[in-house]
Amino acid sequence: MKRVLLFIVLLLPLGFASYELFFLENVKDPIKYIYTITGATATVILFATITISLVKKWINLMKYRRMIGLYGFFYAFLHFLNFFILDAELEISFVIKETLDKPFIYLGMIAFFILIFMAITSTKKLYRKYNSLHKFVYLALVLITIHFIMAQKSLSILQFIYIIIILVIAYCKLIDQIVKKNKLS
Ligand code: HEM
Repeated sequence: MKRVLLFIVLLLPLGFASYELFFLENVKDPIKYIYTITGATATVILFATITISLVKKWINLMKYRRMIGLYGFFYAFLHFLNFFILDAELEISFVIKETLDKPFIYLGMIAFFILIFMAITSTKKLYRKYNSLHKFVYLALVLITIHFIMAQKSLSILQFIYIIIILVIAYCKLIDQIVKKNKLS
């Protein structure tokens, strides 16, 4: 039941965006709109994924962590497809030029490659072998946060609150890691 509920909740942003884009047809700049919906959703889901272990005493979603993380990757992949198909119109030279010219794009690209690696190695068998490398998710999240801030020309109150939440999660995660390390030594 929980799995079905999560499945529905995680697909809501996609459903909402499709409704606005194809049914209401009220979006002025679809490419920008898709960047925002997919980018923000991927970021929220990925931060939620690293928060799962912090809140497991109260809500235990550990069983679904992989599934939730893969949804984060799915939205990041849609974000990339928006760039490659709609923005670059499948032109590799445009992709290379934008990536080399704009620092926020290459930070996004590096984060995206880390996420690809994590998605591929998230199966039980590969996770056992590569689980220490999954710590790179923190590097990806730092890059994503810088990418997100750099992509904004100016920050609205909502985006500012969003960044504060990200920083609070990062801080709690850091404290949690330090406490765990001290218990082990
Ligand atoms: C694959 C490499 C990536 C490329 C080429 C890319 C490209 C872009 C571009 C062009 C924008 C600016 C859109 C605009 O406002 O005009 C943007 C914004 C954004 N991206 Fe990415 N991105 C990449 C990776 C990622 C990843 C991996 C994430 C998160 C998981 C992400 C999250 C965001 C967010 C949150 C924004 C701000 C959206 C807004 O305008 O409100 N990006 N990205």
